[in-house]
Amino acid sequence: MSLEFAERIRRIPVYPAADGYALDADVAMLASNETPFAPAPGVLEAARRALETVNRYPDPGNASLRAALSRRHGVPAGRIAIGNGSCDILLAAAEALLEPGAEIVYAWPSFSMYPHLAAASGARPVTVPLDAEERHDLDAMAAAVTVATRMLVVCNPNNPTSTAVPLAQIRALLERVPPSVCVILDEAYREFAVLEDPDATVDLLERHPNLVLLRTFSKVYGLAGLRVGYGLCGAETFRTAVDQVRQPFFANVAAQAAALEALRHQDEVARRVEQTIAARLELEDGLRALGLHPAQSQANFVWFALPESADEATVVRSLGERKVLVRAGASLGRAGCLRVTCGTPEENGRFLAALGEVL
Ligand SMILES: Cc1ncc(COP(=O)(O)O)c(C=O)c1O
Repeated sequence: MSLEFAERIRRIPVYPAADGYALDADVAMLASNETPFAPAPGVLEAARRALETVNRYPDPGNASLRAALSRRHGVPAGRIAIGNGSCDILLAAAEALLEPGAEIVYAWPSFSMYPHLAAASGARPVTVPLDAEERHDLDAMAAAVTVATRMLVVCNPNNPTSTAVPLAQIRALLERVPPSVCVILDEAYREFAVLEDPDATVDLLERHPNLVLLRTFSKVYGLAGLRVGYGLCGAETFRTAVDQVRQPFFANVAAQAAALEALRHQDEVARRVEQTIAARLELEDGLRALGLHPAQSQANFVWFALPESADEATVVRSLGERKVLVRAGASLGRAGCLRVTCGTPEENGRFLAALGEVL
């Protein structure tokens, strides 16, 4: 007799993780929107020091990290949720807010975790197509809200299409959505956006207790392997609810220590943002020179449609043979497109040269 699993196991999609983690070090890893830069020496040292205390459990309240984030963002520590990556907070939010009969609204294509939230909880997914420019259509999303809606997620900038909507549109959306609906602004890539000050959305929290800004240490801070994310919450009840549904020690000692130290290196963050924007422009120029039309990226990756004559799977495989890993649009919600992470200048050059050969 085989094991009998819960019904939701048949609904939950398998996360389309990139492969390549077992490949040689000389492969250009442009498939997971990580930063190509190694952590600052001080950050590594903080993580190493923390390892000396691993006989003890980590601080379950993440007090030092929350206090530092509170100082940085001007949000009370009681309204800051920490997670084992920001995905952890998303999953916990779904567990705390969703159930059969409830609805969750999100755009599509967008981050692959959002369909998981509906499937795991039994809530109904309400997906709103992106507009012709691959951006969120916030009017249509607001119109999709019903009395059953518990959560509305806006990925800004959007993964996988790289586009962002400006603050004025987010503000208008929040004015339309009832205060009983939790609006999650997933800002994993926010630091790379140049539309406005990346922290401009923080001011919205005072007026909208139903708002949560989701941030991560996995992208610009370069700590993807340690798994730390955080939520800046409009209401303390969101933080207590997501803490209530999880195991107590969700952020390990090395992760807490490294994140705390990384916050002190804002000069390094600014340098990375500058280098990433330069890489983004280089990739966009290179793609245009190949006759392609990348979406207007505000993130650390680019997104573009392949020519109709090109077969996506063949292109991805051929790039892999040239030691360049990228993500196929088919696994991210739109076949015929590619998502390519900004790498080092050498990696970007290798990708563009390889794509030119393949096409
Ligand atoms: C839009 C978006 N949100 C959240 C995450 C998850 O980040 P974390 O590593 O903090 O779980 C990602 C990771 O790729 C992402 O693209």
